[in-house]
Amino acid sequence: MDLLPVAPIETLRRRHSQKWRGHPADVLPLPVAEMDFDLAPPIQAALADAVERSDTGYPAPMPALADALARFAGERWSWEIDPTAVTAVTDVGVGVVELLRVLARPGDPVVICPPVYAPFFGWVPEAGGRVHEVPLVDGRLDLAGLQRAFATHPAAFVLCNPHNPVGRVHTREELTELVRLATAYGVPVLSDEIHAPLTLPGAEFTPILTVPGAAEVAISLVSSSKAWNLAGLKCATIVTAAPEMAAVTDRLPPDTPWRVGHFGVLASIAAYDEGAPWLDRLLATLDDRRTLLGDLLAERLPKVSWRPPEATFLAWLDCTAIGAGATPRELFFTKGRVALEPGPRFGAAGSGFVRLNFGTSADILTAAVDRMVSAA
Ligand SMILES: Cc1ncc(COP(=O)(O)O)c(C=O)c1O
Repeated sequence: MDLLPVAPIETLRRRHSQKWRGHPADVLPLPVAEMDFDLAPPIQAALADAVERSDTGYPAPMPALADALARFAGERWSWEIDPTAVTAVTDVGVGVVELLRVLARPGDPVVICPPVYAPFFGWVPEAGGRVHEVPLVDGRLDLAGLQRAFATHPAAFVLCNPHNPVGRVHTREELTELVRLATAYGVPVLSDEIHAPLTLPGAEFTPILTVPGAAEVAISLVSSSKAWNLAGLKCATIVTAAPEMAAVTDRLPPDTPWRVGHFGVLASIAAYDEGAPWLDRLLATLDDRRTLLGDLLAERLPKVSWRPPEATFLAWLDCTAIGAGATPRELFFTKGRVALEPGPRFGAAGSGFVRLNFGTSADILTAAVDRMVSAA
């Protein structure tokens, strides 16, 4: 399959997004989860057409957005979504916070599994809850630890599947056991499935709501924003599959669907309905970059170890063997002029780690590893 090209770095540096504006010009930025590929052509066309029509008013997400998501999920994952059980929401972060505001009383514990996407640590207190950590064990869900935590009756569990930053795609067996525990202890599961379309060759994504019994206890949050690089357009969706969880979304602020971006809705519909061929090229390209990164690390930086991710364009790199005085993030930044995400942002277990974004060209990835080699 033809791999996706990436524009020259001078062109990328003209972007105004966080990735390209967040650092001085001599720094290679590979932190925040944005990709460097051009937008999928059907999305470019949908947005250009909207500008042409001066179609920049308020969003009208339903039913078109829910219908498109349902078609995509059915074809991709054999996941049957009822479009009437889909709620549009500004982004996944807003979705999780608003759902937690419904589920948690002030001070209630909410379970998360670090190392995990750093904002989880902020979303819980933003909604009034208190973080209860059940760390991953060897990169996997600690089901025995979750059982002990669920026995204390937390207000909710926020699952990350696929799991950022370790790139793990939780298996159907693990999710089945998780659903059993959540049901037994009455703990609602909010499943952040934003990285699902980025499941790479070799792994299979299981939407939580396809697990028997999950509908009564779990809510899924999905978005086109990671896989098609649309984070700035602000559109995500909350999906339920049974009255028990629909009762939670019914209590969201009534204006919730109005707070999505109109361009996000249009781009998401184009992504779900016409963006699968481009997505398949993206996955082949990311698979290629994953292999390249593995080869580069093995040859040039063998002290850095990693487990290649099963999903996402994010690599979780164990730098503890480098043993420098500075943290690895500081070392690579100050000496190598390459910006990576510091591991401790993902929780205490991230000490000595960095997260590297390989959603870029082979040239930029190779240059970044070269800079890391000279810094180390
Ligand atoms: C696991 C996870 N959830 C949520 C987000 C943010 O999504 P949104 O911009 O829709 O809030 C990210 C962004 O990288 C992420 O990795």
